[in-house]
Amino acid sequence: MNINQATLDQFLGRFVSDLGATFHAANVVIGDKLGLYKALATAGPCSSAELAERTGTTERYVREWLRGQAAGGYVTYDPATDRYWLTEEQAFALAQDDSPAFVPGAFQLAASTVKDEAKIAEAFRTGGGVGWHEHHRDLFEGTERFFRPGYIANLVDSWLPALDGVTAKLEAGARVADVGCGHGASTIILAQAYPNSIFVGFDYHEPSIEVARKAAAEAGVSERCTFQVARAQDFPGTGYDLVAFFDCLHDMGDPVGAAAHVLQALDENGTWMIVEPFAHDRVEDNLNPVGRVYYNASTLICTPASASQEVGLCLGAQAGEAALRDVVLSGGFTRFQRATETPFNLVLEARP
Ligand SMILES: C[S@@+](CC[C@H](N)C(=O)[O-])C[C@H]1O[C@@H](n2cnc3c(N)ncnc32)[C@H](O)[C@@H]1O
Repeated sequence: MNINQATLDQFLGRFVSDLGATFHAANVVIGDKLGLYKALATAGPCSSAELAERTGTTERYVREWLRGQAAGGYVTYDPATDRYWLTEEQAFALAQDDSPAFVPGAFQLAASTVKDEAKIAEAFRTGGGVGWHEHHRDLFEGTERFFRPGYIANLVDSWLPALDGVTAKLEAGARVADVGCGHGASTIILAQAYPNSIFVGFDYHEPSIEVARKAAAEAGVSERCTFQVARAQDFPGTGYDLVAFFDCLHDMGDPVGAAAHVLQALDENGTWMIVEPFAHDRVEDNLNPVGRVYYNASTLICTPASASQEVGLCLGAQAGEAALRDVVLSGGFTRFQRATETPFNLVLEARP
């Protein structure tokens, strides 16, 4: 063996950080579900006993949790007083569900995949799929909570204005379909922003559609914002001014079939807005922290989801613009362009 000790040490340093992060993930989910972050954010500096008292939890567990959080930089500790608190930045990211930097939803999503690991390993062996509906429910809720802050921050203010002529139509009164809508976060944000337009969200996953309906009622938009169980390949209705797919085209088994269906469902002057994970076209250009998040999520969620459906194209969550263009043009669209991007999202626009 010819091991370079410095190279090995560098790798093991990385491993310690990753191992800590892996254990940390479930603790973020626990802190989020038990309200520990939110209680810390409102209480200010707290002892473990005070935080346990405020949250109806057990001091010994909370003390250990706080120490792990402080070791990871998610909570701040003062040894002089033995108290813990959240800085403004930590509270913004950990205790405010709609802040653009909210992170517990992402951990809820990621930790859910560990619960399903055996199913995915079996799919590696058999080549079969694992449908979205076969996952732990934390995947559905975690996905919504991970993506919603980005939609609040970007959708109305920057993504829609980047599309040709779409905001004017929405302001005047347009018909919109949000396909693969999950819990309907994007659909409801759109309905709140454009009171003259009507919105319908479609998803094949019935439990998600039920959550979306309740959320629309709570948001006071259910008259103009409805939800139906339907597949991307055959959802009902024609003459839509805008059809939107948020982070779901690559999860579908037959994205070309979906594209062909969107084409016939759109008005002749309509727009298909596709939001997909940010990716470059070449693998080597995605070997970075964002690519690591998406390739790993894709292995555990998106690729098995696509494999579970007819055709089973398995685009993957790092398909890149060129592969997405192929899908859209194969579906019969003639115009396709990148409208805008963020570090996590590609926003694409297709026209008949
Ligand atoms: C990653 S989630 C995104 C959900 C939502 N658009 C969002 O941004 O929060 C992918 C969604 O696509 C849905 N989906 C997958 N294949 C589908 C298909 N063929 N037709 C309709 N929905 C589908 C799943 O049920 C899931 O809700």
